[in-house]
Amino acid sequence: MSKPRVFVTRAIPEKGFAIVRDFCEVDVWGDELPPSRDELINHVRGVDGLLCLLTDKIDGEVMDEAGPQLKVISNHAVGFDNIDLSAASARKIPVSNTPDVLTDATADFAFALMMAVARRINEGERYIRDGKWKTWGPMTLLGVDIKGATLGLIGFGRIGKAVARRALGFDMRVVYYDPSEKKPDLNIKATRVDFETLLEESDFISLHTPLTPDTRHLIDSEALSKMKPSAVLINTARGPVVDSEALFEALNERRIFGAGLDVTEPEPLPLDSPLLTLDNVIIAPHIASASVTSRAQMSWMAAQNLIAGLKGERLPNCVNPQVYSK
Ligand code: GLV
Repeated sequence: MSKPRVFVTRAIPEKGFAIVRDFCEVDVWGDELPPSRDELINHVRGVDGLLCLLTDKIDGEVMDEAGPQLKVISNHAVGFDNIDLSAASARKIPVSNTPDVLTDATADFAFALMMAVARRINEGERYIRDGKWKTWGPMTLLGVDIKGATLGLIGFGRIGKAVARRALGFDMRVVYYDPSEKKPDLNIKATRVDFETLLEESDFISLHTPLTPDTRHLIDSEALSKMKPSAVLINTARGPVVDSEALFEALNERRIFGAGLDVTEPEPLPLDSPLLTLDNVIIAPHIASASVTSRAQMSWMAAQNLIAGLKGERLPNCVNPQVYSK
């Protein structure tokens, strides 16, 4: 029997790729940069499965170009705002993501950014490289304290809770805002508050919400104006949750202390972005989940989902389960 045909839109870790290779006839995009839209469309034609990344925009047109035999779209990411879910559901194509396996890596990274901005680690490093380090100074590069500070989490799902657990270990007070929460998690010492209260009371604000029409530019100039002048904003969620122009203004006018961004709008951030002129922001190239273990696990999970879909089985991590209702 012939193997199912799949397109994998970039080289992924061997742990997952080996499984895909064994089960499928694979076309893998070998470049460092993602396929262009035309290239994507050319390569999806006639495939039974698609294993894609957050850099690939998968909409109804791509699904139609693939053809009616397309059985599964497996995203190698926990976020899936790159995929038009209603278009997939309308075509009865199950879509999956890779939750859990990157929770700790992402929470570690959010915490690392928080500490780095608070204690001005990047500024300190630049200070040395610029030849400014002449002596130990009692007032040199003073940062803000973590212990006793209030951490406000926007989004209290898996990653938000993992950040909360870390914060509690650092003796922080944790508050959160999550309109989608059904039942409070009593195992974590965190207080649910409204959005305004979170903005006004938090010393650190960390974003852990998916990108949806409701969360696009959730952190805009109005939200920024309610934050403390000593506040630090951390974004490891999706760039467009923050209005970057408003953030630039707030940071440039020192209306907040600093920001740590693993995600930006757009990505990659152009070299002439005004944000790159500031010393109170640390920017990373969307690498919060980039630990060896976490990426290997993501590839494994994406492969499992892909193969389940190809076999006509329910995807273990389906994000549009309505496709299975009669
Ligand atoms: C990374 O941003 C992911 O969604 O996995």
